[in-house]
Amino acid sequence: MDKKNIVLCGFMGCGKTTVGRLLAAQTGYRFVDMDAYIEEQAGMTVSAIFDRFGEEDFRRREREACAALAAESDLVIATGGGALTFPKNAEVLGKTGCIVLLSVLPETLLRRLEGDTTRPLLARPDKEDALRALFARRLPLYRAAADVEVDGDRSPEQVAQAIQQAAKNLGKNGG
Ligand code: S3P
Repeated sequence: MDKKNIVLCGFMGCGKTTVGRLLAAQTGYRFVDMDAYIEEQAGMTVSAIFDRFGEEDFRRREREACAALAAESDLVIATGGGALTFPKNAEVLGKTGCIVLLSVLPETLLRRLEGDTTRPLLARPDKEDALRALFARRLPLYRAAADVEVDGDRSPEQVAQAIQQAAKNLGKNGG
């Protein structure tokens, strides 16, 4: 693996945090959840940041987190679902990290996010329509950001293994 970090990308509920923790345990890299990092820096939850300061302020904190984490090495980073829809963040994280998109069908995401109250962007009565619209808008952006895409619609163990294999292949191909 040539690059120093593994950066997990994808929609809310695609498994970035679960798979990231597992991958870190397997590789010996340190796991960092970007939302948890932002919450720690801010001293409040992501929902509270959205409520009190709005999405723009959250995105600024997210950009700062991308820059800070890209400067470190041997990390598995679970990004927030919006982070890599901004090409600048992808550029910053991609310099030192291999960006891996976890692809999961909207139907699976809807199932996994049923009853979730921690995602402000989906805290609305038309949750399903909002999710589908946001998913369709974001997928091409995720794909543009990612070095590699793996099927995330499997067990965390299978996904983690696929990522290790993909990262190894990328290294071999000089990517
Ligand atoms: C967001 C996803 C969330 C969190 C915030 C915004 C998004 O992260 O960063 O609620 O824009 O998709 P997860 O993908 O970890 O839920």
